[in-house]
Amino acid sequence: MSDNLCVVTGASAGIGAAYAARLAARGRDLLLVARRADRLDALAARLKGEFGVAVEALAADLCDPAALQALAARLEQAPPAMLVNNAGAGEFGPVAARGADVQQRLIDLNIVALVRLSIAALSGFSRLGRGALVNMASVVAFLPTGGSASYAGSKAFVLNFTRALQMEYMASNIRIQAVLPGPIDTELFRSQGMDASFVPDSAFISAEALVDAALAGFDAGEEITMPTLVDESIWADMETLRTRFAADIFGGRVAPRYAR
Ligand SMILES: NC(=O)c1ccc[n+]([C@@H]2O[C@H](COP(=O)([O-])OP(=O)(O)OC[C@H]3O[C@@H](n4cnc5c(N)ncnc54)[C@H](OP(=O)(O)O)[C@@H]3O)[C@@H](O)[C@H]2O)c1
Repeated sequence: MSDNLCVVTGASAGIGAAYAARLAARGRDLLLVARRADRLDALAARLKGEFGVAVEALAADLCDPAALQALAARLEQAPPAMLVNNAGAGEFGPVAARGADVQQRLIDLNIVALVRLSIAALSGFSRLGRGALVNMASVVAFLPTGGSASYAGSKAFVLNFTRALQMEYMASNIRIQAVLPGPIDTELFRSQGMDASFVPDSAFISAEALVDAALAGFDAGEEITMPTLVDESIWADMETLRTRFAADIFGGRVAPRYAR
C-alpha cells in the first residue's frame, strides 16, 4: 500500500461511499471494502474516471474470520495513510425478537472487525511512524434506546475503545479520530423499515454533509467529531462531569446511601 492510500470499509453505500468520493476528490487512492461487489465496482469505476485516482474494490464479508484476517494482515504489512473503519450494522428491534444470532453478527462487525482492523493498522502505522485511523461511532454511544441494545452498546464500545487508543498513541505521529454521527439518511435506517416515528425526518442530514464535517474536524486536528452537535458547551459540560465523576468514584469508600 502507499502513502496516498485510504482504506474505507462499508464503502458500497451511505457514509462509506461518501467518504470514498470525498477522499478521491482530494486525490487519494482508495481500497474500498464491503460485501456487494457490483456496487463497489461501479463506485470504483466512477471515482477513477472522475478523479483519476487508483481505486481497488475488495468484496469481503468482515464477519467472516478468514476475510477479516486477510484484510488485517494486509493493513499491517503495507499500512495505508488512513483507515476509515466505517462498516457497521444497525439490526434494530427488541433483542428477543431479533434473536441472539443477529446480535452476534452485529458485534462481529461493529466491534470485532473494527478492533482487529484498528490493531492491525496501528501496528503498521507504528512501524512507519505515521498513519490515521478514523473509527465510526455514533451519538447513540450516549443515547441507548429500546430497540438498539446491541447497536448502542457497540457504539459506546467504539467510542471508549477509540478514546483509550488516543491516549495510548498520544505521543506519536499517529492520528486517531472518533466520528459520532447523529441521524444520517442512509440504508442503515431505510433498509430496516424505520419510519418517522423512530427518528423524525427533520433530524436527518446527508451522508455527504456528515463526511464533509468529519473531514473538516479531522483537518482541524479533532479527536472527537460530532457534526450535528451545535452547542459545544454541552460537550464541555459532559467532559467536566466526567472528570468530577472520576474524582468521586475513586474515593476509596462506599457511598453513605448504601450504609446499613
Ligand atoms: N446512518 C446513521 O444514522 C448513522 C448514525 C451514526 C453512525 N452510523 C454509522 O456509520 C457507519 C456507516 O453506516 P451507514 O449509515 O452508511 O449504513 P449503510 O448505508 O447501511 O452502509 C453500511 C455499509 O457497511 C457495509 N457492511 C455491512 N455489513 C458488512 C459486512 N459484514 N462486511 C463488510 N461490509 C459490511 C455495507 O455494505 P455491504 O452490504 O455491501 O456489505 C455498507 O457499505 C456504521 O458504522 C453506522 O453504525 C450511521
